[in-house]
Amino acid sequence: MTQAKRVPVAVLASGRGSNLRALLEASKAGHLPNADFRLVISNQPDAPALLVAQQHGVEALAVDHRPFKGDRAAHERAILEHLQGAGVELVVLAGYMRLLTPTLITPFAGRMINIHPSLLPSFPGTNAQKQAVQYGVRVSGCTVHFVTEEMDAGPVILQRAVPVLPEDNEHTLAARILAQEHQAIAAAVQLITSDRLEVIGRQVRIKPNPDSDSKTPLLHPKSVEIVVATGNAHKLHEIRTILQDVPVVFRGTTEFDPMTEPDENAPDYLGNARIKAQAWQQKTGLWTLADDSGLEVDALNGRPGIRSARYAASSEARNRKLLSELDGVPFEKRTARFVCTVVLCGPDGEEYHATGVCEGHIGFEPKGEHGFGYDPIFVPDDFGGRHLAELSESTKNNISHRAKALYGLKPALGKLLKM
Ligand code: GRF
Repeated sequence: MTQAKRVPVAVLASGRGSNLRALLEASKAGHLPNADFRLVISNQPDAPALLVAQQHGVEALAVDHRPFKGDRAAHERAILEHLQGAGVELVVLAGYMRLLTPTLITPFAGRMINIHPSLLPSFPGTNAQKQAVQYGVRVSGCTVHFVTEEMDAGPVILQRAVPVLPEDNEHTLAARILAQEHQAIAAAVQLITSDRLEVIGRQVRIKPNPDSDSKTPLLHPKSVEIVVATGNAHKLHEIRTILQDVPVVFRGTTEFDPMTEPDENAPDYLGNARIKAQAWQQKTGLWTLADDSGLEVDALNGRPGIRSARYAASSEARNRKLLSELDGVPFEKRTARFVCTVVLCGPDGEEYHATGVCEGHIGFEPKGEHGFGYDPIFVPDDFGGRHLAELSESTKNNISHRAKALYGLKPALGKLLKM
């Protein structure tokens, strides 16, 4: 495979096809200029992956295994014929749910790769994410590897780590791993089709990019990590959930040595978020995200606003104080809004920011078990008078000030992932 020539690629998939979609979208975006996606084959005639292929104008073929009545070699010979007929040089297994035999593996030795949702050699086989949760590991992730006869055991091309959180179940973990898979599989195909891999025994070396002036954005062979400058576990969880489709590992400040937090003495949210982001960026050297938010109550001339976190000693005390300040104020005059500004700071002085607002009223008593901070006394518009802490996590994550601000940051995160 030389760099000048486009490599004919086939993808084998049995199910949903989100990794296939990630590849075809990366190709459409110009990230895989040396990959020529010729063919998608599924052993399941109704696999959504075949539709994904068609939507992207790639030939989609079902080679149903059932008529072969357990004769794996015969089924694979049928697939091999299609692959050879299309001149395929690289086969990507993306959720192909059948164990392969030498019939298909041998002709594509060193030219067939697979993506697996764990950090191999841990948790090979099916239900890797469930295995990881049940085992209690703190970190899992995904692996792209060359396919050899032993299942999930070929030389490792790329791995991406994903933290396993205390509240994770197999589904939440699988969703976060999948976001990383989509990046990893495209990065691996980019590396292979631009002839940047060298296999020495079990080890796969990534050669430097020979064309450093290339206009093709390099996909990251490593995970991108962003520090979230907060020690508040609720906030970290919320940010991870809101941005779960962004293939970034978000690290809380408790994962680092402690430092004296800087004074948040700026006159506005942007200034305070910037102070926090810059301080943790400088400490860790990593891209850092920080937010500052506040609750602005019109009847109190915008208080507590920038001082929301310092309005009283605890969340309960802050809520009590606010309710007593509004004693006697009727509902229609209790208008208020949550405002959040998020700032993302990079190691070379880069800065991106966005602001989100959630309009509503202050209720008359705390209600609800979800959320944190002022959520129990805030009644967002358009939710039938229910308090923010009464709404499910997913509803809150659609309407909250923090969610809106973080969505506003997505274009910047997209840029960062392509750097
Ligand atoms: C992915 O988790 C992949 O790692 C595993 O099967 C799943 C396929 O997902 N081998 P999709 O069909 O690409 O959405």
